[in-house]
Amino acid sequence: MSWLITGGCGFVGSNLAHDLLSSGETVVVLDNLSRQGSPENLTWLRSQHGRDWQFVQADIRDRDRVADLVRELRPQAIAHLAGQVAMTTSIQDPRLDFEVNALGTLNVLEAVRLYSSETIVLYSSTNKVYGSLEELTYGETETRYTLPDYPHGLAETLQLDGCSPYGCSKLAADQYVRDYHRVYGIPTVVFRHSSMYGGRQFATYDQGWIGWFCLQALAMSDSQIPPFTISGNGKQVRDVLHAQDLIRAYRLAVTQIDRCAGEIYNLGGGMANSLSLLELFAILTELTGYPLRFRSLDWRHGDQKVFVADLAKVNQHLGWSPTVSKQDGLRMMLDWTEEVQARVPTLS
Ligand SMILES: NC(=O)c1ccc[n+]([C@@H]2O[C@H](COP(=O)([O-])OP(=O)(O)OC[C@H]3O[C@@H](n4cnc5c(N)ncnc54)[C@H](O)[C@@H]3O)[C@@H](O)[C@H]2O)c1
Repeated sequence: MSWLITGGCGFVGSNLAHDLLSSGETVVVLDNLSRQGSPENLTWLRSQHGRDWQFVQADIRDRDRVADLVRELRPQAIAHLAGQVAMTTSIQDPRLDFEVNALGTLNVLEAVRLYSSETIVLYSSTNKVYGSLEELTYGETETRYTLPDYPHGLAETLQLDGCSPYGCSKLAADQYVRDYHRVYGIPTVVFRHSSMYGGRQFATYDQGWIGWFCLQALAMSDSQIPPFTISGNGKQVRDVLHAQDLIRAYRLAVTQIDRCAGEIYNLGGGMANSLSLLELFAILTELTGYPLRFRSLDWRHGDQKVFVADLAKVNQHLGWSPTVSKQDGLRMMLDWTEEVQARVPTLS
């Protein structure tokens, strides 16, 4: 199959590109290399796969460039992953966020509508489209908040409520992607992601919290390092999904497009792979041997107390469920973080 991956030098994109190239698929990657670590992922992909694939350095906001590329390639599938990915940055520069996430997605959809209408479009949306979820009823234990009314997690039927410019721009894109199926018959699929993690992720304070806390955990080997900060009391919960499982879902969607075109799926690690920050710190302490020292700051604007995806729909439609447990995934993530630290010491 032929694939175009926008944002293909990012965390998800480089993992997907590697997986596809390893099984002989044709891959073209578009990326503007704006993200920390993306140039390194490009070098890595080249080291793994030589010149068997094509890299196009371009901006998703450049609609003519995107249109020309889609017209020229007419790929069988597009994984549209290029994006402005941090809520904090979206608050500092909402126009950039809108142009990259909302307009950039429209550029992809329009290119497909005009020049390649059979192309499958997979879109990486987010659970932030559900807003802060303040209206839900929460329980509280020693280590986490809970949702007693949703023992299996939150389904796709939850009310939409874009919160923060990032939430709004991703929500706009998410709805356009689905609507291009309804109005124009383009085979599109929207995945609303919780927190994803894995190798090739270059975590920052603003994005990629699992990787960020792995970095902090490793730094604790130096007892002189001051405590790191967290937002809130550490009882906020997310379900974490390892890149390997995520990629399997994307590939299953393409092979089963007759079943899932026009659909939206919450895609996360599910209840079994849910974690509060406090629980994450306990696992990292066990794995590294260093207790994590931290200080609490105010909550972030619009932060959800709990988001855990209900995986019933994606399981029923695609036969997909996660296979990498949070313990195994975190072990692999610590290995990756150590590798990054060893090669790029300034990142610590
Ligand atoms: N990682 C997560 O936990 C998570 C959660 C929810 C949703 N998502 C979504 O999944 C997608 C992929 O996430 P990721 O973690 O791989 O992010 P990432 O930042 O690692 O990758 C995004 C890539 O897009 C590129 N990019 C940014 N702006 C661009 C532009 N204007 N033109 C072209 N390329 C551009 C970056 O250089 C980067 O390589 C994003 O759309 C993100 O919003 C990710």
